[in-house]
Amino acid sequence: MFKGVLFDLDGVITDTAEYHYLAWRALAAELGIEIDRQFNQQLKGLSRADSLRLILQKGQQTELYQGEAFQELMQRKNENYLKMIQKITPADILPGIKELLFELQAANIKIALASASQNGPVILEKLGLADCFLGIADPKQVAAGKPAPDIYLLAAKEIGLNAQECLGIEDALAGIQAIQASGAVPVGVGQAQDLGADIDIVETTKDLNLAYLQEVWQKCEK
Ligand code: G6P
Ligand code: MG
Repeated sequence: MFKGVLFDLDGVITDTAEYHYLAWRALAAELGIEIDRQFNQQLKGLSRADSLRLILQKGQQTELYQGEAFQELMQRKNENYLKMIQKITPADILPGIKELLFELQAANIKIALASASQNGPVILEKLGLADCFLGIADPKQVAAGKPAPDIYLLAAKEIGLNAQECLGIEDALAGIQAIQASGAVPVGVGQAQDLGADIDIVETTKDLNLAYLQEVWQKCEK
């Protein structure tokens, strides 16, 4: 049986993925670059810097890739994003997540956060979930962002486990790839067309529970 579950945050625990999208779209518009939901699929799970690089690439403004201008753009996006998340409360936890966290705790399964977001700890506090997480991997400590495995390897380490002993839950393709590269077993939230047809996927977080995760794990053990 798995000993730990490594959670992505945005789009899995709460719907902040939407706020990231809105904040990037607003920043891109200021630069005269149009991004839509389809383009946003590529941004999901990526670090702040990697997201901005993709947007600038789309707008053919790669001259802004470096230096102070780049830092200022990231800061501007984050300030707007922080304004959007001010009002987050425990009511914003996605359906089924709190119940799942309690089930995992009752079964002595360790829980860690493997988010690329530097705002992860603040959001967990606002949601009233900080105490559920035994470990939080700090994205600033990893060399490469998702789809590289680093943040999942670190999250497992934070709770004293190997990634191979854990499941990872993600709503983004870059995140699923990171889980697979780490050796953990992936569970997707979303659609096979976005996340890949070769993994176990639930359409919404409502369908996540301990029995389902055990089923996924047992299939992989065979
Ligand atoms: C998560 C989200 C991304 C976001 C990244 C960095 O991975 O899925 O959309 O860009 O975190 O978040 P931050 O809050 O540090 O800008
Ligand atoms: Mg996500």
